[in-house]
Amino acid sequence: MRGGGVRDNRGPRRRPSIDTPCRYFNNTMMLANRDEKTLRMQLTDVPDMLLSDVLAQHVEELQHTSIALEREADALRAKNLELAAALEAACQASEIKSRFLASISHEFRTPLNGIIGFSELLYDAVVGPVTSDQQDCLSDILSCSRHLLTLINQVLDLTKIECGRMDFQYEDVHVETIAREVLDGVKAIAAGKGIVIRLEPDDRLGVVRADAARLRQVLFNYLSNALKFTPRGGYAVVRICDESSETYRIQVDDTGPGMRSEDLPLLFIEFSQIGAAGNAKSGTGLGLAITRRIVEAQGGSVGVASTVGKGSSFWAVLPKRPAIVAAPIL
Ligand SMILES: Nc1ncnc2c1ncn2[C@@H]1O[C@H](COP(=O)(O)OP(=O)(O)OP(=O)(O)O)[C@@H](O)[C@H]1O
Ligand SMILES: [Mg+2]
Repeated sequence: MRGGGVRDNRGPRRRPSIDTPCRYFNNTMMLANRDEKTLRMQLTDVPDMLLSDVLAQHVEELQHTSIALEREADALRAKNLELAAALEAACQASEIKSRFLASISHEFRTPLNGIIGFSELLYDAVVGPVTSDQQDCLSDILSCSRHLLTLINQVLDLTKIECGRMDFQYEDVHVETIAREVLDGVKAIAAGKGIVIRLEPDDRLGVVRADAARLRQVLFNYLSNALKFTPRGGYAVVRICDESSETYRIQVDDTGPGMRSEDLPLLFIEFSQIGAAGNAKSGTGLGLAITRRIVEAQGGSVGVASTVGKGSSFWAVLPKRPAIVAAPIL
């Protein structure tokens, strides 16, 4: 009996491996099966070692291996427990943060709506005459308050999505009708900026199941960006497309400044405003992140293509029959 099965006592002790004793037992079994005589010869080839010693050595190696494996398994079990506890703590913290944000957003909205409402009354001279200087001030108050309200609504939306509580109320809608409403809503801004806006519908797309308000929000976010970043004299085109038997696409193309390809992965992430376009314009950097979450929560996907100096295309591909069950409103 020689070869791999016997450990060299003179050398340093190797890390116990289960392979060696297994191989040894396997060889022995093969020899025993073949011819008992050969086995005896092999065994007597190791004059200074009794078979029982050899076996004892292998048993010892197996014990070492088993102890080492047991230790590793213990360490893994401890690590798993640690990770589970950390995950639980992170989930609880996130839940508390989301609830806190949701409740303060609600609390902020009520007085803010009051400020906006009363400022409008003053601005429209409903409660008495106002000078043109006063009207200018009121106009600033109104635009700041509306901006703040948009911001609060965006934070509330993000929070709802994070809690998995964004409600989708599906109904049969004509995407083209929704798109026309959104275009009508921004046509004054477009005219003021000298930007031509156009709708390209797809006659093949019939009625789809959608949450009309959320669809409007997605389209508005894309279109308002196109109008915000495209310089005077540019174009913004809203395209609706019957993409497949299960999906449709809404896309907004513009002739704005475009973006570098390395910046594109940063889009659709909260608070990311990139390049010169982002620095120069007002905004919070939440619009695209909310858009992505609204679309993905319904089983859809978003995308962007852009060329510096030429323009950008932002799109959302949505299911015609989303499978999401409406969640309770927060
Ligand atoms: N059509 C576009 N052309 C060029 N850059 C764009 C365009 N749309 C988005 N971006 C870039 O992506 C950034 C993120 O857009 P996003 O809509 O999320 O935020 P925002 O418009 O800055 O603020 P918010 O929409 O929250 O008011 C923008 O700040 C801008 O840098
Ligand atoms: Mg935006």
